[in-house]
Amino acid sequence: MTSSLAVRCMLALPLVAALSFVALSTHPEAEAATPRRGPVYTASGDLVVPTDYREWIFLSAGVDMSYDPKALASAEPVFDNVFVDAPSYRGFLATGTWPDKTQLVVETRGSTGKGSINHRGRFQSSEAASVEVHVKDTTRFAGGWAFFALDEGKAAAALLPPETDCYACHRQNAAVDTTFVQFYPTLLPIARRKATLSRSYLEAQRGAETTRP
Ligand code: HEC
Repeated sequence: MTSSLAVRCMLALPLVAALSFVALSTHPEAEAATPRRGPVYTASGDLVVPTDYREWIFLSAGVDMSYDPKALASAEPVFDNVFVDAPSYRGFLATGTWPDKTQLVVETRGSTGKGSINHRGRFQSSEAASVEVHVKDTTRFAGGWAFFALDEGKAAAALLPPETDCYACHRQNAAVDTTFVQFYPTLLPIARRKATLSRSYLEAQRGAETTRP
């Protein structure tokens, strides 16, 4: 028993060594596969929507979220999916906040319950209903960040002016650097550990705890 385990270990060793060699030698290529591209703008200041954002890091899907306390559940719930470019994601893992040139995309999709073998629950429709991008570019935008929205049939997403309610809601309610990390489950613990949660978010959390029955 013991000897056969020892033999197995010895057999396994070269494999482990070979695997770690593969892992080490492929690492630089993996880095090169996600180069820092950063936001690209048109001459008129709109954002060229990254066509490959579906290959970025997936942060979360919200189902039928609403900011209106009186909102009723929709008959056809809408999903939203949030993605971030991979180099910025790695930056967040290291620091608990976003590096310059971060791009976050939120797309919304309608849903249906009918199709194939499904009997319960809902799944997302194949066409995105909207695509919006939140870009950190500190030399370009006052406040560091800007929002862009893609209109149907357009290749570039339009820059939204700072007076739009996007900016105010994100500034006042978002947990990290105007982004809604409180809804991105794998990032919230990192922000907590690195102490990067915004003061307004922490105060709102404390308020919610003291008023809770
Ligand atoms: C009343 C608050 C509110 C307003 C107004 C608002 N958002 Fe958001 N936004 C949110 C919340 C909450 C999320 C998190 C969504 C999730 O968890 O799926 C979010 C997420 C996002 C994201 C993903 C990245 C991030 O910053 O977390 C983008 C991009 C975005 N919103 C764009 C916009 C744009 C563009 C507008 C204006 C047209 C806008 N938002 C207006 C609350 C708001």
